Amino acid sequence: MSDGTSLEPSFREGGKTLPGVLITGASSGIGLATAYLLSERGYRVVGTARNPDAVLHRLQEERGGTPPFRLVRMDLTDPASVDEGYARAQSLLGGVDILINNAGQGELGSVEDTDLDDSRTLFEVNYFSVVRLVKLAVPAMRARGSGIILNLGSIVHDLQFPFKAQYCASKSALTGFSLSLRYELHPHHIRVHILEPGWVRSEFHNRLRPVYKAGSPYALRLKPFLDFTRDSDPAVPDGRAVAVIILATLENPKAPVRIPVGREARKFRIARRFLSNAMLDRLLLWKLSQKGDKAHL
Ligand SMILES: NC(=O)c1ccc[n+]([C@@H]2O[C@H](COP(=O)([O-])OP(=O)(O)OC[C@H]3O[C@@H](n4cnc5c(N)ncnc54)[C@H](OP(=O)(O)O)[C@@H]3O)[C@@H](O)[C@H]2O)c1
Repeated sequence: MSDGTSLEPSFREGGKTLPGVLITGASSGIGLATAYLLSERGYRVVGTARNPDAVLHRLQEERGGTPPFRLVRMDLTDPASVDEGYARAQSLLGGVDILINNAGQGELGSVEDTDLDDSRTLFEVNYFSVVRLVKLAVPAMRARGSGIILNLGSIVHDLQFPFKAQYCASKSALTGFSLSLRYELHPHHIRVHILEPGWVRSEFHNRLRPVYKAGSPYALRLKPFLDFTRDSDPAVPDGRAVAVIILATLENPKAPVRIPVGREARKFRIARRFLSNAMLDRLLLWKLSQKGDKAHL
């Protein structure tokens, strides 16, 4: 049997036996859009949120009616909450066939000014909680001989920005983890994918709080990075557009392991192919100087 094909028959059966999906971070953005899209397509979906009651209330007000998926509580900074949330999702679904590790936390602050404990928390959310959920999900997937793990990485694995060092590091860790895991799980017919989007219109950037200490030489340089006008640019993909790519990935047993999302990510991949590291570096320094970050030149 080839990679992941064991899931194909149930995908074709039109609703009745479609796999159970667990999506972390289903309160907004990509996770919420994916929870709706997969539910609309007949998948049985459980999403996670730190405060599911508030999310349900908000969704009922905004969209009317109860959402077509279930929500369980999961705080990714708390291993006990991850274990409890996973157990609850598993019992609701009768088994997790597809695990989508979507939840993530951003960052805006220099390495010097950012507290190491806050960096550890970011890694807990963006990386270690994923490892924990994978460890919870894999034994049953392996026993069944099927399953899909889809992680939300980022373009920042390839294209780094200043003041996001821990975010870049956590997403690079996630890409490395996913690629290694893919080889580990391939003989067990469990597929692993990592989506690497560029900018996506969601709550992600609004949630960022710039971090700097009093008198920090970085404070002014952070300012241009608080320009979120791209969040209103219709050319930039929104959560729904990413959800469509997630659905296509789940339904294509031959989907690649690493999947760039959005024009920005695809353009950068092409630039990587044709430019040397030194040329790319000069280009990125120039782009940053256009942003007003003269300290780079
Ligand atoms: N937006 C972009 O430009 C972009 C680009 C590349 C990659 N990504 C990645 O895409 C993923 C989804 O982001 P998004 O754009 O959809 O952002 P979003 O709208 O801010 O959604 C983030 C989700 O993560 C959850 N989350 C954050 N901290 C958590 C914690 N400690 N415990 C549990 N859940 C937590 C949030 O849930 P709560 O409601 O509980 O806070 C929320 O549902 C992230 O992994 C992000 O790194 C985003």
